[in-house]
Amino acid sequence: MIVLFDSGNHKVVVFRHLTPKGHVQANQVLFVDSGEGLLADPSGRGVFSRLVAEISSVLPAPKVKYIFFSHQDPDVTGASASWFVSLPNAVVLVPRLWSRFIPHFFPQDTSISHRVQEIPDEGGSIRLGESELRLIPAHFLHSPGNFQIYDPVSKVLFSGDLFASLLPEGEDYDFVESFEEHVKHMEPFHRRYIPSVRAVERWLERVKGLEIEAIVPQHGAIIRGRDNVEKALAWVRTVKYFLD
Ligand SMILES: [Fe+2]
Ligand SMILES: [Fe+2]
Repeated sequence: MIVLFDSGNHKVVVFRHLTPKGHVQANQVLFVDSGEGLLADPSGRGVFSRLVAEISSVLPAPKVKYIFFSHQDPDVTGASASWFVSLPNAVVLVPRLWSRFIPHFFPQDTSISHRVQEIPDEGGSIRLGESELRLIPAHFLHSPGNFQIYDPVSKVLFSGDLFASLLPEGEDYDFVESFEEHVKHMEPFHRRYIPSVRAVERWLERVKGLEIEAIVPQHGAIIRGRDNVEKALAWVRTVKYFLD
């Protein structure tokens, strides 16, 4: 696990190495404040049991208050049924657009509505311990109902699939060193999965003015430091997206 931020009371922990071979590598992120946790994009069934063990080394499972689904994909929601059992006090935060599909993970007549909290299209914020995390709309980047998390304490942006990189086997690295070198691992995914620069421009308007120290995408390497973050924000405007 990578402890990206730790002030004692507030932590951001990233799990980058739990994905089984043959699955698309995925990062999972745990935000902790004052003994309460939020687990962001917990990935699928192949990661589940190892991630449960890792979380327990940071805080007791019943202290995880939220599970955040940035969007509907299997690498985000695939182990939903197991998480509902293993994190007994967690509520799932899910984009309003996708909440109606969550029952498909469960047998008929399973009552889950009390465990699901819809995130409205306009986003908002949620309280975690003494802190407040912002749920930032990032619709169509790539999913039509899609959110990111900004943590004002650590200044970490969990960006979901935006800024995802698919690193070739044997070439994995935790942090981006040279952004210019890194771009080739991000570009093909962005070109095909994201529809248009119009969605990117809307998002850039929303995050304008946020102080971002690190971008943690759901896949690939972490973009850390103001310099690389600024390069990333400039780059994402320049990609030739599918419909452009
Ligand atoms: Fe996705
Ligand atoms: Fe993903």
